[in-house]
Amino acid sequence: MGSRSPLQQQRRVFIRLIGGSIILASAGLLAGRHFIVEDDELQRAKEEKLGANSDPRLALIEKASLAPSSHNLQPWLIDLRGPADIILLRVDPERLLPVADPHARETLISLGCFLELLSMAAQAGGFRCEIIEFPEGNAPQITPVAPVIAQIRITPATTTEPLLPEPLLAMLEQRRTNRLPYDTQRTIPDDILASLLDAGSVHGIQADGTVNPALLQKLNPLAENAWQTEMSNSETVLESLKLTRVGKKEIEYHRDGIAVSGFLPEMAATFGLFPRDRVPEPDSTFMRSMITTGKEQGQTAAGWIWLYSQGNSHAQQIAAGRAYVRLQLAAAQSHIAMQPMSFLLSEAPAMQPHQKDLYDNTELNSDQHRLQMLVRIGYADPVAASPRRRLSDFILE
Ligand SMILES: Cc1cc2nc3c(=O)[nH]c(=O)nc-3n(C[C@H](O)[C@H](O)[C@H](O)COP(=O)(O)O)c2cc1C
Repeated sequence: MGSRSPLQQQRRVFIRLIGGSIILASAGLLAGRHFIVEDDELQRAKEEKLGANSDPRLALIEKASLAPSSHNLQPWLIDLRGPADIILLRVDPERLLPVADPHARETLISLGCFLELLSMAAQAGGFRCEIIEFPEGNAPQITPVAPVIAQIRITPATTTEPLLPEPLLAMLEQRRTNRLPYDTQRTIPDDILASLLDAGSVHGIQADGTVNPALLQKLNPLAENAWQTEMSNSETVLESLKLTRVGKKEIEYHRDGIAVSGFLPEMAATFGLFPRDRVPEPDSTFMRSMITTGKEQGQTAAGWIWLYSQGNSHAQQIAAGRAYVRLQLAAAQSHIAMQPMSFLLSEAPAMQPHQKDLYDNTELNSDQHRLQMLVRIGYADPVAASPRRRLSDFILE
């Protein structure tokens, strides 16, 4: 076996104590992922202990862990090994997307989502959050160590300076990514669009968007065509397939990735027709249906919203995540379904012509602006919540 990073070595012998309960996280990694050995009883005991734990940071972290993340990778590692009022948000170097996200831009956006929810949860709980981003320097090397993305000091708010809870946080459990086709008969009122843009224009990030039919006629086919391009890139397809969890058992086991359930996909997986280790033939039923699904998503967008920054620093990527999660909470408040279409913003050379059209249609200048998030919006049936890892999977104590 090759040499291991300090983090991996640490996990190999990981016996963690949370509030006195013992969690045995075994040897390590299965296909690069955590491999947690726990029986149901131990798990129940742990949850009871966690529930009883008086460390207020855990409740805040649990809320923040409902944050959206690219491919639902949940790339956060939470370090509680320092002082009792400090949370260190680290990036987990084992939870990156080297193909789809070679510069970890989406990873930092995902961590920004986590940070914003943490800060909102703290405020709602009567705590002040003092956040220092990149305390180790502003250009983190993601691998092989797990750099600190933010140091968060949590202090109780004083009675003279009480904190008002952020109303958007009430939507925490309703916020979801909705990949269904959207209702093409329902248009989104302008005032709702305006309120969403308002919610997403924070932390120095600009939100813009459209529900204008003339522009939708350009953007929807653009997304469809870009999806076709995306599907012809076997490396990105394979990376996504590896992170697709089919059926209850796999979803429960991994608690990350893109969860797919239902009789047909589960049957297909049972008979090897839903592969995760190879890219199916381009004309296979599987690939045809993947292409159709993605195209339908583009075709049925009732509107688009994009978040952009002037420049593309790591701090701006974090800020984009902070803005994005607020945008999504606001969308949930207005019963608007939302799905990012990040493949259109990727660095892949084949995507550049589509991206140029996108910048032209959104009237952005790629020399000055960086599109950080692009989402389709509309009305759709609700979808189930996606899985999250347990606190014990990502807290270092
Ligand atoms: C930076 C970022 C990029 C994302 N890109 C996509 C995407 O291209 N397509 C998609 O369907 N979902 C995308 N998502 C949504 C995630 O897949 C989703 O947040 C994750 O699966 C968890 O599901 P939830 O949002 O319903 O909790 C993205 C999310 C983030 C934060």
